[in-house]
Amino acid sequence: MEHVLSNPIVMKAKNLFDAVQPVVYKDGKVFFLDQTALPTSTEWVEIDSVEACRSAVRGLVVRGAPAIGIAAAFGMVVAARGYAGDDMAGFLSHMKNASDRLATARPTAVNLVWALRRVYARLDAACSVGEAKDAALREALLIQKEDEEICRSIGVHGLSLLRDGMTILTHCNAGALATSCYGTALAPVYVARERGMNIKVFADETRPLLQGSRLTAYELLSSGVDVTLITDSMAAYVMGKGLIDACIVGCDRVAANGDAANKIGTYGVALIAKAHNIPFYVACPLSTIDPDTPTGGDIVIEERDASEVVSFMGKASAPGGVKALNPAFDVTPSSLISAIITEKGVLRPPYSF
Ligand code: MRU
Repeated sequence: MEHVLSNPIVMKAKNLFDAVQPVVYKDGKVFFLDQTALPTSTEWVEIDSVEACRSAVRGLVVRGAPAIGIAAAFGMVVAARGYAGDDMAGFLSHMKNASDRLATARPTAVNLVWALRRVYARLDAACSVGEAKDAALREALLIQKEDEEICRSIGVHGLSLLRDGMTILTHCNAGALATSCYGTALAPVYVARERGMNIKVFADETRPLLQGSRLTAYELLSSGVDVTLITDSMAAYVMGKGLIDACIVGCDRVAANGDAANKIGTYGVALIAKAHNIPFYVACPLSTIDPDTPTGGDIVIEERDASEVVSFMGKASAPGGVKALNPAFDVTPSSLISAIITEKGVLRPPYSF
């Protein structure tokens, strides 16, 4: 796996949301929490170049659609700093190259390109290179701050679909680690806690890279939420046993017709939920909805290295030479989605964006 990082540093976290803050801007420097090291080690990696940012996004040091967007925005800040001259045309061309490079880090989450476009638009509007560099930083910080407010609002709307004591099932990690704060799918759980309510969570382990066990179980456990870890193959069992009241997942891109791409395995969860008459909700910011992608079939699905499938926690788990497939995401058809929870409210089918 491509994974080139510079200047690893370790900082001590003061509280939970500090401990699960994926992107940190501190003393003029950009740091990503290394999510590949969680849950056993809490390390931040300094991002000092566009290539370091791109590699970190590709290598899942920072991951989850909103966090990828925030990371890319700060990648643009780092790129801007790296330009020494004061010629605006040269600066814009340098930044266009940086943006193009970052845009190719991962193909599925639309938030990546969305954030890059937001930062670039600020540069374009500036009158000097110095002004543009300041504008890039302001925009990156704004995207990060807005994401926190958006996610909390998703949590408030999502909680309106739940009742105290309910149990949800989630897949992958769409929690605080995947956003600026609160997460999307997990935001209703955190808002419930703020209000003294108790929503329990079943977390799918999420093969091949275990975002469910390494990240979701970690952040929920750390914040005192009642979380039960299951392997992906247990989802039908627990739904069949009546242990789940609703499924809530995050999303990397919603097409214009409401089809939604999320971590591989999500489609299966939606089918199982349908078979058991359990509501299946997708939670995402409006920035994840892409009206330019007509249907789920038009969403580019990232194919990752087969080594992730033939190994488990760094050890071979299959015979050498076996063929393996590794799509990182799948598409849940809109017909299986009971509602899409956004910061502006709960959207019900038929979807049309
Ligand atoms: O490959 P990952 O870990 O980036 O996949 C993440 C997901 O599929 C999340 O569910 C999605 O990005 C939403 S995060 C709020």
